[in-house]
Amino acid sequence: MALIALGVTGGIGAYKAIEVCRGLQKQGHDVVVVMTRSAARFVGPVTFEAISRRPVITSQWKRGMNADIEHVAVADAIALLLVAPCTANMIGKFANGIADDFLSSLYLATRAPVLVAPAMNSNMLAHEAVQRNLQTLTARGVRFVEPGEGYLACGWIGKGRLAEPVDIVAAAQRMLSPSQSSLAGRHVLVTAGPTYEDIDPVRYIGNRSSGRMGFALAAEARRRGARVTLVAGPTRLEAPAVDELVRVRSAAEMHAAVMGLAARADVVVMAAAVADYTPVEPAAGKMAKTEAALALRLDRTPDILAELGRLPSRAAAGRPILVGFAAETADVVAKAREKRARKGVDLMVANDVSRADAGFDVTTNAVTIIGATGERELPVQAKEQVAAAILDQIEQLVGTHAGTPLPA
Ligand code: C5P
Repeated sequence: MALIALGVTGGIGAYKAIEVCRGLQKQGHDVVVVMTRSAARFVGPVTFEAISRRPVITSQWKRGMNADIEHVAVADAIALLLVAPCTANMIGKFANGIADDFLSSLYLATRAPVLVAPAMNSNMLAHEAVQRNLQTLTARGVRFVEPGEGYLACGWIGKGRLAEPVDIVAAAQRMLSPSQSSLAGRHVLVTAGPTYEDIDPVRYIGNRSSGRMGFALAAEARRRGARVTLVAGPTRLEAPAVDELVRVRSAAEMHAAVMGLAARADVVVMAAAVADYTPVEPAAGKMAKTEAALALRLDRTPDILAELGRLPSRAAAGRPILVGFAAETADVVAKAREKRARKGVDLMVANDVSRADAGFDVTTNAVTIIGATGERELPVQAKEQVAAAILDQIEQLVGTHAGTPLPA
């Protein structure tokens, strides 16, 4: 049983929030309803008051509301802030830190997890401004309940109809009980993004990894109650909220960070696109341009995943569960199978990076998860959903320790 703040904003779906409120109560939770001014034009606060059996908060300026700075008091007391329906306007306020009403102030003041069920016209949902705000919130660890028809966590297509109340309640329930996950309390180490290998002080060799897949994995592992350390290469995207964030630049730095941290990890997911080669010795000063062609001599970098795979087995020495990614452009699954065996890892995620809708620097991915005894092919979907599927598979390994076969 928890106290949940249910934010209701001014969309036509506001009436569905009544069912959400009842559903949360049926799960044994106590609900304090916070309505915006426009929400109160769609549904009367009295309805929510009767159902929640609590005063409904409709304004920051109501008398009696400021004696103990109500939004801070509510912010401290709640276990979850759920906003359903959430308009483009409120998403924009949350993303940009605008606090001009009770609900937006509550968002800034609370440390409770936040779950948002967006609802708006499909063009508004698809608008770049809204998408950017949603991405900002995703990166901050805010969770979403998919609206009707084809909504993708980062692809944002679809009609934007509010999700069904039963699905919103189920999502809230999952956020409130992460201990049901076999990852709860486990230490998960995730790597993300590219590495940059310096040629001289102004030039480097890099790759197109955006860090999105690793960030989605880190956010999802944390949502499931894991203690998450994220080792991130240089990325433009904001990293999600994690327990420990380690920033690195080169493959050598990533190697040092991961080898130091892996000993206390239960799971290591190497989603980073680590450079395979690095300049033998970066020039101390900027290399001068000449008329002649330039040949760079490159050394191999240490293969971090393979090194972890050579550690004594998990059963014998408590080695972490190892998950790697195989980015390929041809014979993707066959090469990933070979790589899984060669590197001695538990799961290899085969990733066809030749597709426009999968792999580097896009919001969706299509992968095949390869285990010791079976494989699971996933259709193209948002990286957040791919992350959830990969973690489901990891959870099976954590749960059994002997490893549950994937479907053959
Ligand atoms: O052999 P390949 O580079 O294709 O393998 C990819 C997997 O190995 C990824 O999980 C990547 O993070 C990891 N890797 C690594 N160290 C390297 C290169 C790749 O851990 N130097």
